[in-house]
Amino acid sequence: MTPETRIRRIVKPLVFVLCLTPLAWLVWRGLSGGLGANPIEAITRFLGDWAMRLVLVTLAVTPLRRLFGWPVLMRLRRMVGLFAFAYAVLHLSSYVVLDQFFYWPEIWADIVKRNFITVGMIAFLMLLALAATSTNAMVRRLGGKRWRRLHRLVYPAAVAVIVHFYMMAKADVREPLIYGAIAALLLGYRAVLGLRGRRRRKPTDTQTA
Ligand code: HEM
Repeated sequence: MTPETRIRRIVKPLVFVLCLTPLAWLVWRGLSGGLGANPIEAITRFLGDWAMRLVLVTLAVTPLRRLFGWPVLMRLRRMVGLFAFAYAVLHLSSYVVLDQFFYWPEIWADIVKRNFITVGMIAFLMLLALAATSTNAMVRRLGGKRWRRLHRLVYPAAVAVIVHFYMMAKADVREPLIYGAIAALLLGYRAVLGLRGRRRRKPTDTQTA
């Protein structure tokens, strides 16, 4: 089996199933009555947690590829990113459908008045822009440079997600701080790579002379 076939036939389906596992677990817990006293809150939070974790996994792809030299990771990034978006859509849907019963005036009031919802909405819109432009056709249409620039949105999106979680948590902020530290590490790594790249591209004095 060639490496290409191995990626297509084994690695990608495996990652696909892995990304679906939390959802299957949630459905199982729902069917077996394991969602606790407040199932709607449990569902919304569980889906939000996994959307956030998959955003962080997407951010970890470049550092891991560089550190361990696994080029295959780049081939999985789009799939994981789209799963992050899918969990974010389910998270938002569970808020709109289960929590608010499609009561739009209340939803709108929440978006405008409750800061953590406003920030969640901003994060969601950024993820939407990323998902909508994730196809090969969109890469071609925008051109590689513009597409890459647009896809840097994943960094502010990750920050907004962590801020959303932090603001929601109010009293016990230990968990958002742990996720925040992981995000800071990944963003810091990306910033260092960016600086190095820029320094390398900058013409030296001898070249400009
Ligand atoms: C319009 C967009 C969004 C809305 C309206 C929204 C709404 C909410 C609400 C109502 C909660 C609290 C749940 C509860 O206590 O009952 C929550 C928590 C959370 N949301 Fe969002 N959210 C949005 C976007 C996002 C996005 C894009 C992500 C991640 C990619 C996300 C991740 C989280 C996380 C991690 C939590 C905390 C879960 C926990 O306590 O373990 N949210 N969100």
